[in-house]
Amino acid sequence: MTIIRAIYGWLDRRLRLKPIEEMLLNEPIPGGASWVYVFGSATLFLFCLQLLTGMFLAVYYAPTPDHAYDSIRFIMSSVAFGAFVRGLHHWGASAMVVAIGLHMLQVYLYGAYKPPREVMWMVGVALFLLTLGFAFSGYLLPWDQKAYWATQIGVNMVGTIPWIGGDLVRIIRGGENLGALTLTRFFALHVLFLPLMTLGLVLLHLFILRRIGPAGSFEERRAVVTGATVPEERRRETLSEPFYPRQVFMDAVVAGGVFLVVAALALLLPFPMADKADPSDTSFKPVPEWYFLFYYQGLKYVHGSFEPLATWILPMVFYTVLMFLPFIDRNPVRHPARRPKAILIGAAFLVGVFGLMAISLQEIYSVPTTDPSMVRGRELYSKLQCNGCHRIHGSGAAVGPDLSYVGRVRDRDWLIRHFNNPRAVAPGSFMPAFPLNPTEMNDLTNYMLSLK
Ligand code: HEC
Repeated sequence: MTIIRAIYGWLDRRLRLKPIEEMLLNEPIPGGASWVYVFGSATLFLFCLQLLTGMFLAVYYAPTPDHAYDSIRFIMSSVAFGAFVRGLHHWGASAMVVAIGLHMLQVYLYGAYKPPREVMWMVGVALFLLTLGFAFSGYLLPWDQKAYWATQIGVNMVGTIPWIGGDLVRIIRGGENLGALTLTRFFALHVLFLPLMTLGLVLLHLFILRRIGPAGSFEERRAVVTGATVPEERRRETLSEPFYPRQVFMDAVVAGGVFLVVAALALLLPFPMADKADPSDTSFKPVPEWYFLFYYQGLKYVHGSFEPLATWILPMVFYTVLMFLPFIDRNPVRHPARRPKAILIGAAFLVGVFGLMAISLQEIYSVPTTDPSMVRGRELYSKLQCNGCHRIHGSGAAVGPDLSYVGRVRDRDWLIRHFNNPRAVAPGSFMPAFPLNPTEMNDLTNYMLSLK
């Protein structure tokens, strides 16, 4: 401790650190420190985590259609901590969307976007858009089927914007097709343009915060200064509390907790890659990341001439309203209890988003569970260790044929004959015959047929 103090003292005499330290730590928080103010710093922490893990991923990643998929396979299988770092990056992105969502929700609830903090809010909305840009551009990089076809859909939606849509699409894709130029373009966006823009805006966001100070509580509340008996003449000061130590402590605890959660997800829930992107396979139905699911579900309800409404009109209106919210909501009151209209609109929006998300999740996960025979078949597949020779969507060994789409090429009859005696239908096969009873045979066949 004393040695750190000594080094600090030495540096302070040369760099004059004291005023900076004071500026960073003594920022008064009106109404005192609180656990509800932690989401901004949690978002910043996650952004730093993304920068760090992203830098290490870039060491091995190759942004070309020929090598992107295999380079990520290599990271997952052969690089020390590769799967963990990629897991951190993947779940860190999700966590960042959650953190930024909670941060915006808190600012909305507390009316902290109101004057004089309009500019800080607008910079924040721009940062939110950049985050979505990260999500969209990052999704393509693994160059698997999911990435390719989800990006195709996203790009097509841009194409529905009148007049400029076609040109925009050509700029995004770097040509007429989604291909090598698109991938390098998305890569450059993801690792250079967006990070630098984000860094700049984060600094601006924090600069404004330091100039104008945090909004703090929405009521004239006394800060809880622990363990201190405050003399009468200092009462006014206790209406606010400095950033250090309690808020710093809360921010640090939350950052640590967030890291533990993301690390646990990265270790426990490795996410399989889909097959390598195949531009000719137009039947692939991609599912977007969970945070775009509500939108994906919404798109299902609009058809024909209403389509532009969902593909660009509503999103455009939404972002415009969000951006200019401080000028649209002119009510000067900050207390949520006295802003019924704003709170109702916010609640209705959340109900809509989470409702659509729930419906979407239900539709996605209801398919495999409706047919119990198929579920038993899948269990049989892992019990009999078929994955020792076969691969399904990237998991399992590649000794025998890939079974990801076997339901498309084989019918029930063929499969049953094959299971009974592989050599009868595939001469020279070294796949063992499995002794299955008729129910098991039926279950396993149903599972095979579901792989389409
Ligand atoms: C020892 C390795 C091995 C194991 C274990 C194995 N297979 Fe195979 N399998 C093969 C080989 C090799 C082929 C290709 C020759 C053939 O069609 O028999 C094959 C072919 C198949 C095919 C036909 C694919 C096609 O479209 O031609 C299916 C379906 C199949 N296996 C399912 C299974 C299932 C289900 C299991 C688990 C009960 C299993 N296999 C276990 C090696 C294996």
